[in-house]
Amino acid sequence: MQSFTYWNTTRIHFGKGQIARISEEVPPGARVLIAYGGGSVLKNGVMDQVRAALAGRTVFEFGGIEANPHFETLVKVADLARTEKVDFLLAVGGGSVADGTKFVAAAALFEGDPWDILLERGTNVQAALPVGCVMTLPATGSEMNRNAVITRASTQDKLPMNSVHVMPRFSVLDPETTYSLPPRQTANGVVDSFMHVLEQYLTYPVGAKVQDRFAEGLLLTILEDGPVALREPTNYAVRANLMWASTMALNDLLSRGVPGDWATHRIGHELTGLYGLDHAATLAVVLPSLLKVKRAQKREKLLQYAERVFGITAGSEDERIDAAIERTRAFFEAMGVKTRLADYGLDARIIPEVANKLRQHWQVPLGEHRDVTPEVASNILELAL
Ligand code: NZQ
Ligand code: ZN
Repeated sequence: MQSFTYWNTTRIHFGKGQIARISEEVPPGARVLIAYGGGSVLKNGVMDQVRAALAGRTVFEFGGIEANPHFETLVKVADLARTEKVDFLLAVGGGSVADGTKFVAAAALFEGDPWDILLERGTNVQAALPVGCVMTLPATGSEMNRNAVITRASTQDKLPMNSVHVMPRFSVLDPETTYSLPPRQTANGVVDSFMHVLEQYLTYPVGAKVQDRFAEGLLLTILEDGPVALREPTNYAVRANLMWASTMALNDLLSRGVPGDWATHRIGHELTGLYGLDHAATLAVVLPSLLKVKRAQKREKLLQYAERVFGITAGSEDERIDAAIERTRAFFEAMGVKTRLADYGLDARIIPEVANKLRQHWQVPLGEHRDVTPEVASNILELAL
């Protein structure tokens, strides 16, 4: 196991009725800006609960943070926060609202061009407004991590940032808020959280038994409950397990002491930035092909994944690896998330465009061995056609 430092400062309030806890978390005299997306939280009753919990505070609201949140919108929200002397930000929605609000928290106190925050991946953030979060879509783990992914629509650049300053002070996870998710977003969340685990698990062995078995526990839970959530959207136990699994999948617990891959995510972000695919769709397209291209480097972990997650023990090593890759693809397809570029109307013409964006955004090749160059990414995308 590699050496590491671990700490996580977000307080989690988990369970039905927990939105009321916001009243304990946000100071009574606070000037609060609630940020939300396209209106789902107005329809499903979440915002009513939030407003009730904030009674007595000075509250401003900003609706309209897009899926794959736009830099252009967020700088306006940061302006509003400064003008109104806001001292607490509350994100109410999915990962896009959470990420957007985290970026606003940093941008509101940033001297200079806020796009530099993304260019420097957040390393230049010195301070941020405090952020709280009511997460309504289990997927990204944004509610308990320091990441945000922001898109500049005018240039189609989608870039991540990472800063301890934007880590939510608290997050509310009420599984009942997810009952209203459309099947496509339930499926996206399942695929995204499954992929977060795989990015930190399917690399090479370092003798990290605890991290491996945490990862396998999360994968098995998501495999089991993901399809049930589509059939039974108001099954509390299923929604609760998926919600906690997606938080645990990306809150820096699994990543401690082990190598991380993240090439699928980075190639995927270019596909979203350029062509607007849902984040989870990009992952479902890229991963099966990436695993084929990187099967030699990932051999031992692929065999472990085949046996411990899918129970595949028969056949040669190559057959077991092939079977594990196909079972993964079949899971994504069963969730309704297609796994070929052609399914999204894309063909080979996109490959040089994606490779160019990767060259612009990443100085060093991707993957746990830093060997996924733009050329290798192109091979992966060819296999994904
Ligand atoms: O905008 P509203 O009206 O709220 O509707 C949203 C949106 O249309 C809807 N929705 C959310 N909760 C709902 C709901 N509809 C009904 N009932 C509910 N309870 O779902 C749609 C998608 O929402 P979005 O927030 O975009 O989805 P998600 O949570 O999957 O977030 C995706 C974004 O997060 C980034 C992605 O790149 C993408 O930009 N990621 C963030 C990460 C992080 N911060 O650590 C890591 C991830 O890998 C990912 O990159
Ligand atoms: Zn993701």
